[in-house]
Amino acid sequence: MDTQVAIVGAGPAGLVLSHLLDRQGIDCVVLENRSRAYVESRIRAGVLEYSTVELLCALGLGDRLMRERMVHHGLELLFEGTAHRIPLSELTGGKTITIYGQHELVKDLIKARLDKGGDILFDISDVAVYGLDERRPTVRFGHRGAAHELRADFIAGCDGFHGVCRQSIPLGVLRSLERVYPFSWLGILAQAPPSSAELVYARHDRGFALHSMRNAEVTRLYLQVAPDESLERWPDQRIWGELRTRLARDADWELTTGPVLEKGITPMRSFVAEPMQYKRLFLAGDAAHIVPATGAKGLNLAVADVTALAAGLTAWYSTGRTDLLDSYTTTCLQRVWRVQHFSWWMTSMLHKLSDNAFDEQLQLSQLRYVTSSATAATSLAENYVGFPYAFD
Ligand code: APR
Ligand code: PHB
Repeated sequence: MDTQVAIVGAGPAGLVLSHLLDRQGIDCVVLENRSRAYVESRIRAGVLEYSTVELLCALGLGDRLMRERMVHHGLELLFEGTAHRIPLSELTGGKTITIYGQHELVKDLIKARLDKGGDILFDISDVAVYGLDERRPTVRFGHRGAAHELRADFIAGCDGFHGVCRQSIPLGVLRSLERVYPFSWLGILAQAPPSSAELVYARHDRGFALHSMRNAEVTRLYLQVAPDESLERWPDQRIWGELRTRLARDADWELTTGPVLEKGITPMRSFVAEPMQYKRLFLAGDAAHIVPATGAKGLNLAVADVTALAAGLTAWYSTGRTDLLDSYTTTCLQRVWRVQHFSWWMTSMLHKLSDNAFDEQLQLSQLRYVTSSATAATSLAENYVGFPYAFD
């Protein structure tokens, strides 16, 4: 088999890249080790930045998204029993955020790609990357009981944090920068109408809680829990009780409950691998970096990476120019570190970090500042709705 760009991983990074390349007439094959049903039902985050939505619409991928999404103009920060609204749109010249489940987006991206005759191979096994030092590297893999080789000009490693691409880079090339937080998030998806119109980020003495949603009937809720927490210790009643306590506010407010559709625990981690390129292998999305979910940025950062990669590949194929590919790491890392800082900042401001009263007072002071100063709130809003992508 032969293609121009071999894309490993059919998450948001790999799929959006396949659409961006197709638009430029660049041939690609997407290789995914899970089944189509699995990737289409894997529950992940659900907040799209303003520019992510613009990009998806420009690629003709926005039909169902625009019909079914929820548009939000603000969010709430809840602390000391009082909710404070950050009017995101007012503070950013009218920008909004979009609530749309990542797996719904993945469904749209896969369908549109296959409808156009694009190649996505699911259920592949034993993916391995060879010949990165050669002019045409190779991806070897198993599919339907047979061994295959895919030769390409470039390999896009869009295979997530646990993928094989980053690990195929020779030792000593990459530097990993990392922070692991002393807590995880327990997340549930519940068949229950949202209890608030907007997202609620809550700082509570018992730990962080987040009220989010997927649509008018489905709520997504999270609790800060111990890093080694096990789901068995969290029957539904305990989860609802803890959410009720942490999301409680002085004013009349009730948490809507309902059947729990899904439950999971996610560790909180900040991670950056640099450079994001080794010869003809380019890493994008979670394969290169992880942000704690507090900023709702993982998916958006993955999309930003692949717009930069697509621009570099387009320049290379159309004129032989290498400058955009050469500066891929520098271009991406600028945004990655802004997002790392924002996500770390949101995380540190809202989670119970220790029993130290000094830490607690710093958090409360920061929360009071960000909810009372238009300047501080604007900084949060600008980062939350996201910065524009270079895209044409
Ligand atoms: N071979 C082929 N595919 C692989 C391999 C492999 N060895 N390892 C992992 N994959 C697939 C995964 O099954 C997954 O579908 O690569 C894909 C990676 O997708 P994501 O983990 O979704 O990562 P990415 O596309 O970078 O999306 C960014 O944003 O909301 C956050 O972390 C969340 O998934 C999200 C991410
Ligand atoms: C979600 O809806 O899953 C979600 C929302 C906001 C976050 C993280 C996750 O910060």
